[in-house]
Amino acid sequence: MAGISLHGVTKRFGELIAVNNVSLEIQKGEFFTLLGPSGCGKTTLLRCVAGFVDHEQGRIFFGQRRVDGIPTHKRNVGMVFQNYAVFPHLSVQDNVKYGLKARKIPVPEQVERARRTLALVRLEGLEHRLPNQLSGGQLQRVAIARALVIEPEVLLMDEPLSNLDAKLRVEMRGEIRILQQEMGITTIYVTHDQEEALSISDRIAVMDQGIVRQVGKPWEVYTKPRDSFVAGFIGTTNMLRGEAAEFREGMFIAKCGRVALGISQVNGADPGTPLHIAIRPEAISIADPDEPVPEGHWGVEGSIVRVEYLGSMVKYEVGFSEDVTLLVTSYNADPRHIRKVGERIELIYPIERAWTFREDERL
Ligand SMILES: Nc1ncnc2c1ncn2[C@@H]1O[C@H](COP(=O)(O)OP(=O)(O)O)[C@@H](O)[C@H]1O
Ligand SMILES: [Mg+2]
Repeated sequence: MAGISLHGVTKRFGELIAVNNVSLEIQKGEFFTLLGPSGCGKTTLLRCVAGFVDHEQGRIFFGQRRVDGIPTHKRNVGMVFQNYAVFPHLSVQDNVKYGLKARKIPVPEQVERARRTLALVRLEGLEHRLPNQLSGGQLQRVAIARALVIEPEVLLMDEPLSNLDAKLRVEMRGEIRILQQEMGITTIYVTHDQEEALSISDRIAVMDQGIVRQVGKPWEVYTKPRDSFVAGFIGTTNMLRGEAAEFREGMFIAKCGRVALGISQVNGADPGTPLHIAIRPEAISIADPDEPVPEGHWGVEGSIVRVEYLGSMVKYEVGFSEDVTLLVTSYNADPRHIRKVGERIELIYPIERAWTFREDERL
């Protein structure tokens, strides 16, 4: 088992910079996720680590061992793909034994290791089935067993759950996480699904256009996004346009149209500087218009535009100036106190949870 270090890895396809000067330190035994929208370079970066793609700049290490230039089959990586890549004409057992056969492991050991690995992914009893006799979830387990049976130094998974239905996806991600923890295997996992990334990872690298925008633990990228891209991509965020206005009574104020909003900081911006203001829907609560605003909070009047009742939570859309609306989510809502469309209310939020990003902050 080894950690993985990337130093300034860059990969171009003609004019396009698919991976742009990426440096990452992935710890031994860590579950590390590359998260970002489609086309941001996740697969290309993973393929550089696997050795399927040659990067033109940068260095890649597994532990102390530099692996650039070493062919894939000598890097000792286990790889799981989105489309399973299971051989259709081979039984489950033969699929799993395939990599061992290629490595000329003696037959009795092949059988024993296949048996152990299939038990690990809970496929015992299905050894002699053919892939077309398996469900999507079982097929993906075969693919995972095939990657693990060779006892790889690192496990690389590229959107392994995206062909499964929503319920199975949630089940399987839990299983993958438990398996990874039991084996303690250093894992790089690729997904475009932010909820999956938050739920499964030790740390996440958020990517955009070939660049890593932020690396952090799930709660860090969710509660301390470094820029407006991360704030907008992870979770749901109300993103408003405004400008830095003034510092008054110990508070920073931004103007958003004609409405003044208390914000956490202005990042050194002079009055008039354009800002993105981001507030999570769950950071805002709804109160009656005459309710006092607690210390450290900001209140702004608005009216309910839309109500969506979802059982465990109520989603409100609240209009607070001519054409600006905010999404507010309210948990454990008492059904007797659900607000109605048209009702005048006050939105209250802790000022520290109104983040600001300068519009010129893009790297
Ligand atoms: N073999 C290739 N030739 C040319 N362009 C490619 C190739 N592979 C990927 N790209 C481009 O590189 C960018 C990153 O792609 P990819 O790594 O597949 O993104 P992701 O996995 O995040 O969706 C995209 O713009 C994609 O079109
Ligand atoms: Mg991809």
